[in-house]
Amino acid sequence: MQKTDKIFVKLGERSYPIIIGKDLFKDLQEIISKLGSFSRIIAISDSNVSKYYLKKIREGFTKHNTKYNEIVLPSGEKTKSFAILEVLLEKILGMKIDRKTLILCVGGGVIGDLVGLASSLLLRGLNFIQIPTSLLAQVDSSVGGKTAINSKHGKNLIGTFFQPLAVIISLETLKTLEKRQIIAGYAEILKYSFIMEKKFFFWLHKNGKKVISLDYKCCLEAIKNSCKIKSRIVKIDEKEKGIREILNFGHTFGHAIESFNNYSKKINHGESIFIGMVLALKFSVYLGICKLEVLQKLTNHLEELNIPYKLANYKIKITASKFLKHLKYDKKIKDKKIKFILLKDIGKPTSYVLENQRILIKFLNKELV
Ligand SMILES: NC(=O)c1ccc[n+]([C@@H]2O[C@H](COP(=O)([O-])OP(=O)(O)OC[C@H]3O[C@@H](n4cnc5c(N)ncnc54)[C@H](O)[C@@H]3O)[C@@H](O)[C@H]2O)c1
Repeated sequence: MQKTDKIFVKLGERSYPIIIGKDLFKDLQEIISKLGSFSRIIAISDSNVSKYYLKKIREGFTKHNTKYNEIVLPSGEKTKSFAILEVLLEKILGMKIDRKTLILCVGGGVIGDLVGLASSLLLRGLNFIQIPTSLLAQVDSSVGGKTAINSKHGKNLIGTFFQPLAVIISLETLKTLEKRQIIAGYAEILKYSFIMEKKFFFWLHKNGKKVISLDYKCCLEAIKNSCKIKSRIVKIDEKEKGIREILNFGHTFGHAIESFNNYSKKINHGESIFIGMVLALKFSVYLGICKLEVLQKLTNHLEELNIPYKLANYKIKITASKFLKHLKYDKKIKDKKIKFILLKDIGKPTSYVLENQRILIKFLNKELV
């Protein structure tokens, strides 16, 4: 069996390991048998990921005569919908499941979020394992138990907190991922460094290029560090009643950009988050709570890596009033007031509730020209 690294998400009886290694799919049956005994395994993936990895996963289980089924869903953000959730639930129920059925979510954040939600609903909760195959899912969405689909009222508005039985990250999957998606995942890695660990940012400053060109050692280090930071935060605040909200740095602006573009392929989640982080830091500087040099550190780093961080790079034009409308769809709204995670410095996040919309409109008018 391949050598693996393990990080634990410590949540009492809901604790689970994040198992990280290379070429783990051929050992999947063995890894999973150590986590429990199951009556049936259902692997669920999307149309892109399935063609690369389901065969390997299937072979491991059928060799051991395990009852095994597969479901392949369309790829893309629009899959996180009520319509697809219903189809998925009915399909799984048609497979004669029981409480010992194990669901495997094999894919990016879309599959992880949707299938995690389905697992939490079926028979009032089925065991599921996250097998993230995109960089974004490996460092972020697969860890922490947030599941969701989107609504016409906004992103991730219908969901549950439901922790997986384990997260299994097999790093070679990144080789088939488009470069654009690797960059998108890097947004969340960079986010962790900015909200939590200056020294991680300095490390990324040195090694970021290697991470996005998939140097194995650097990728492993970046993924491990990101998972460690996320599990530390989730351990303290599983249900986002406090510190977990710092993970939303760049996301309030970012989600508004995604929502404005109707979650189209024009700009993806990670790409919106780069712009969102820059806007959040610009807003921090504008409000006088952060020094300009912190913002410059971020933009210099993005420029060095050739990562776009302006709406104009995507030919997106939003007026301040439209931006505000989409900012208001965010689920972190409190007493009708928008809440932002801003920074005082690298590693020093602060939460900011917008009391006076005119400040934001003025800022957006300046930034969106
Ligand atoms: N639950 C959470 O805590 C959390 C956190 C962050 C983001 N999210 C959600 O995650 C989603 C974004 O995740 P994502 O960027 O992984 O999107 P995604 O699942 O759509 O994956 C991006 C694209 O890459 C493809 N892909 C994935 N792995 C691949 C591989 N190994 N080889 C080839 N192609 C592959 C997918 O088919 C898709 O086309 C959003 O819906 C976002 O809201 C959730």
